Amino acid sequence: MCGITGIVSRNRINIGEILVKCGRKLTYRGYDSVGVAAVHNGVVDLRKDVGTIDEVNNQLGLSKMLGDRGITQLRWATYGAPTKVNAQPHFGCDEVLYGAHNGNLHNYYEYRQELIDAGHIVRSENDGELCVHAVDKYFEKTGDMFEAVRLSTHDLKGAFAYAVGRADTKEVYAVKMGSSLVAGVGTDETIVSSDLPSILPVTNQVIYLQDGEMVVLRPEGVKVYRVEDGKELDRTPEVSKVDAHAAEKGGFPHFMLKEINEQPTIVQDVMGLLQGAKCDEWLRMIEDANRVYLVACGSSHNAGIVGTYYFNRLAGLPLIPAIGGQFEPMYANTLDDDSLCVLVSQSGETKDILNILNLIRNGNRGKTLGVVNVIGSTLMFNADSYIPMGCGYEVSVPATKTYYSQTVIFAYLAAKLGERNGTLDPKESRAVINSLANDLPSMTQKAIDVAGIQTKELARTLIDVSDLYCLGYGFTDGVAREGALKIKEICYNHCEGMYSSEFKHGPLSIVTDGYPVIFVTTPEDSWMVINHINEIACRGGRTIIVGEREEKLTPYVAKSVDYLEVPKADLLLNPILDVIPLQLLSYFLSVDKGINPDLPRNLSKTLTVD
Ligand code: F6R
Repeated sequence: MCGITGIVSRNRINIGEILVKCGRKLTYRGYDSVGVAAVHNGVVDLRKDVGTIDEVNNQLGLSKMLGDRGITQLRWATYGAPTKVNAQPHFGCDEVLYGAHNGNLHNYYEYRQELIDAGHIVRSENDGELCVHAVDKYFEKTGDMFEAVRLSTHDLKGAFAYAVGRADTKEVYAVKMGSSLVAGVGTDETIVSSDLPSILPVTNQVIYLQDGEMVVLRPEGVKVYRVEDGKELDRTPEVSKVDAHAAEKGGFPHFMLKEINEQPTIVQDVMGLLQGAKCDEWLRMIEDANRVYLVACGSSHNAGIVGTYYFNRLAGLPLIPAIGGQFEPMYANTLDDDSLCVLVSQSGETKDILNILNLIRNGNRGKTLGVVNVIGSTLMFNADSYIPMGCGYEVSVPATKTYYSQTVIFAYLAAKLGERNGTLDPKESRAVINSLANDLPSMTQKAIDVAGIQTKELARTLIDVSDLYCLGYGFTDGVAREGALKIKEICYNHCEGMYSSEFKHGPLSIVTDGYPVIFVTTPEDSWMVINHINEIACRGGRTIIVGEREEKLTPYVAKSVDYLEVPKADLLLNPILDVIPLQLLSYFLSVDKGINPDLPRNLSKTLTVD
């Protein structure tokens, strides 16, 4: 959800420019509204409004704001509609104290009333404003900003981070209480932000803050303290190896298209990580568990479904795929010392996933293995061990390359485990790994090249469709769900992804003349899928096929563009390759409909709320 960045500069007077430059890198976290508070000559200039950072910047001249310190915030609305008054940063009671938050306060209603009863002027319905007033409350009592920020955390419940400053002090303060926060130490600026990409324009010297820590930015450096008792902590910055240009479009019209096109090259990085020394530990964690849950949300969950089929097929292991938010009510009482939760999350900050991490850590019930993309994320630091997705930054809100990487990771682990437990002989396991390492990159490139043409044409024929299904069977179950999620997310169509054999148990009644249903298939299952296709075709439905070209399937497509081909490959690569036409179809349909696929409405890439 939201993103915050605070900067203190040694020499600058044009703080707006660097705040906008760094803040823009957090666009994927929120684009409902944007604001900048900049301090110049002891006065806070606060400008904010509804829109993306570029829209609000054009309208209010954020990048021209003067000052040597300030805070910017990009909002994904939860408490309070996306309006100007609810946009962040906020002032405290007067226009001296300013601040912004990321996360959610669970005691919002009670605390807001308590502040109002105590005479605070609360202007908005946004929970971020309460963080600023909490600091205000303790500043009135102590007259000391450090103590006021530290004590303010006692009043606030939930998972959040916030940054605050005053017109009359040189520092910017920030606390991490459950939401991500990274500090950076540059030569002329110090910075704190929700995520690394917005630090990198200033410096690659970073400090990953932990929950319950507080940071004070001054022009000459950064100090970290424990919130509980105010004790200073010894935290030396580390050098980030992340490329500062990774979060740029590199000539593509959208990040989504760039990230789809990166898929052939990430295989090598992912395989390199998997073949490293830590792999044995990850495999042992799975082997030693009496029960393994594969828990994730959204696209990561869809990849988990594909993974579950791989673990069954290659290693005879019954993993239990579960949705993050559903895990506790459905499975928490089944956890014991020997359980393992594989927690899969691109961001490593998804609250539904961190809730499970905390449940297991606090109750000492089992182990956790993260599969995570964002280096420095809460999941990476706090899982018992973690597998990096090795994708570099995924900026576009719809997940593409990270979903792909997750499926590669699961296929690899399943093949290794299968060899270790005798489900596969060493030759079979080697064959799977060789085809992942050697064939998959070129097959992926071919799939992108072919689908790039076919899906563009198909998208044009679907422009007026509002409603469709995407069905998979066996290995392509998770792929179909992922295709449907992409179409819903960035094309605003209602598209349901489901198991193909379930369609006849009710949904079939929706089919009328020309109603489109996408079938994702592999040569192994096409005999079965043909039955399901017939059930729709004989009722006049339009069937669209994604998979390897098979003669027996061609009679079922009315238009040539209704067959989205993937290259012929080892059967086990099919579930990885089949997603590519669906990613590209959703991309072109989104663009044709005039939507920016990188920033679909109402969404945020990092969902740090319940
Ligand atoms: C869809 C998408 C979301 C995420 C979900 C989980 O394209 O990106 O469904 O997959 O919000 O996010 P992570 O993987 O960061 O936990």
